[in-house]
Amino acid sequence: MKRKVTVIGAGNVGAETARRLAEKNLADVVLLDIIEGIPQGKALDITQAGPICGYNSRVVGTNDYADTKDSEIVVITAGLARKPGMSRDDLLHKNAAIVKGIVENIKKYSPLAVLIIVTNPLDAMTYLAWKISGFPAQRVMGMAPLLDAGRMASFIALELNVPMAEVKATVLGTHGDLMVPVPSQTIVAGKPITQLLPPEKIDAIVQRTANGGAEIVNLLKTGSAYYAPSAAAARMAEAILQDKKESILSSVLVTGQYGLNDLYIGLPAKLGKNGVEEIMEIPLSSEEQTALQVSAKAIKENNQKLF
Ligand code: APR
Repeated sequence: MKRKVTVIGAGNVGAETARRLAEKNLADVVLLDIIEGIPQGKALDITQAGPICGYNSRVVGTNDYADTKDSEIVVITAGLARKPGMSRDDLLHKNAAIVKGIVENIKKYSPLAVLIIVTNPLDAMTYLAWKISGFPAQRVMGMAPLLDAGRMASFIALELNVPMAEVKATVLGTHGDLMVPVPSQTIVAGKPITQLLPPEKIDAIVQRTANGGAEIVNLLKTGSAYYAPSAAAARMAEAILQDKKESILSSVLVTGQYGLNDLYIGLPAKLGKNGVEEIMEIPLSSEEQTALQVSAKAIKENNQKLF
């Protein structure tokens, strides 16, 4: 297999993303971390599952960016994860320094790569990666609204006792407390949930979704979520590698869509071999539009702390 995807950060999210990518058998995977031994050990472990699970991706662990050369996609998960009581914004400056150094290396070794940012605070880190890389915005995106929508869809599927795959949830805006779950665009087997659940149940699901990351941080106590985050990152990489042109909620650079400009924010976008191939404009109620503007304001305030 010749296609190459690099995952930066061999911690919980990074290693799990590498494993999911290897299992999809779409590309060889390079797993890079600053800690010596961790990416190498985890890559070996993932490799040894290949004959058992039946995948053939080569997985290499490294501390050297030379091994990442000519990656088609680079998923950036490196950085500090939240501890109980920390907001994603507490991570802003520490993770900005980490992301900046990584993007400079990627620019040098894989100037044509598509970047998928996972490090929090997500929308600010994605904006930073875009600025530092100088890559066209099409080739820089953030993972998170797909994760938030996954969380919302899982709560709905459990509440209605329907198969998970039947629920298509929509969550826009920032990956943070001001995210914008959109019940009017959240569908179960063709029907909006507004026709299936009473408003107080929907409100509770919306609240639990916005608090979805913190709920897990509080349970784990020593780190943050990684099974669903890695699932979302790997699904985005798959859409790009396979040129699916599939509508996937992603953090994307807006250039006038929804009346917004010059920030990365969660919206539905078609992902294909060129990265973000189109940003979809979906109908929103006036309340949802207002919530999106509030979300955008919070993202801009964060971005301004970085530049
Ligand atoms: N270069 C490469 N790797 C780095 C760097 C760097 N400059 N700095 C830190 N790392 C590595 C750490 O050594 C660690 O292995 O990033 C990894 C982070 O792993 P975890 O602490 O397990 O964190 P994780 O749960 O994977 O979350 C990573 O994703 O969801 C977000 O909020 C989360 O920002 C956090 C990121």
